[in-house]
Amino acid sequence: MTSPESISIINRHILEKIDNFQPHATGIILGSGLGEAITRLEDSTEIPYSDISGLPQSTVKGHSGRIVYGFMQEKPVLVFSGRFHLYEGYTAAEACTPVRVMGGLGLKRVFITNAAGALNPQFDAGDLMLITDHINFTGHSPLTGPNYEEWGLRFPDMSRVYCDELRSIALEAAKSVSVRLERGVYVQVSGPNLETPAETRMFRTLGADAVGMSTAIEAIAAVHMGLKVMGIACLTNKNLPDCMAETTHEAVIEQAAKSSAAMSALIREIISRLD
Ligand code: HPA
Repeated sequence: MTSPESISIINRHILEKIDNFQPHATGIILGSGLGEAITRLEDSTEIPYSDISGLPQSTVKGHSGRIVYGFMQEKPVLVFSGRFHLYEGYTAAEACTPVRVMGGLGLKRVFITNAAGALNPQFDAGDLMLITDHINFTGHSPLTGPNYEEWGLRFPDMSRVYCDELRSIALEAAKSVSVRLERGVYVQVSGPNLETPAETRMFRTLGADAVGMSTAIEAIAAVHMGLKVMGIACLTNKNLPDCMAETTHEAVIEQAAKSSAAMSALIREIISRLD
């Protein structure tokens, strides 16, 4: 059960292990294969998820399962490398534990990254996509169950999930580091199976540009707590309903690893532009 009490126990463990923690840190959640994007943190402390009692453990290859706190461009960042997915059997609330931890520690913004399949035929595997909005197609919300007033409202507004200001900064940053950054709508499915051609056609018809198995519910939990959200999808494969190519998890991880240098450069530049 995820509650303010359970999160504050986790947070006590985290704070015991980080001497120089600063609550104005930027939170980052790294998606499949993107672990390399954090290799260059200065003055860093690493905590494996397994060292923090109360924290779920990530079970998926490509998700290393550690918290890293450190400095990027002299700005503090708290990184969750490895996330918890609905398809592993976690509830939506449990899957959002990293966001609840960040909110509980006093962070004010979170960058959510993921690996996703491109649906927009103009996008390609290897592109990065700034998430402008999402469709939560999982049938689950992290807000189901009792509402904790200290976290947020019972019926939070979702008219502006992905912060306009962070989006502008991201687009300027992408230009300055010469990283191609598409923009589009992300649809979250529960997985773990990939989509059929008919589902792919449906998601495109519904207005989605990329599909993946995370992020939307995390963004919901973040908005619930008043965190500003930025989302960047790493497009690892291209799904065209009329000529559907086979996709494997290994190929997704491999492509994400190839894009992680661009993701890292972009995130660094965005961080350097923050107040
Ligand atoms: N579908 C769903 N999730 C994904 C995909 C996909 O094609 N690629 C990476 N994550």
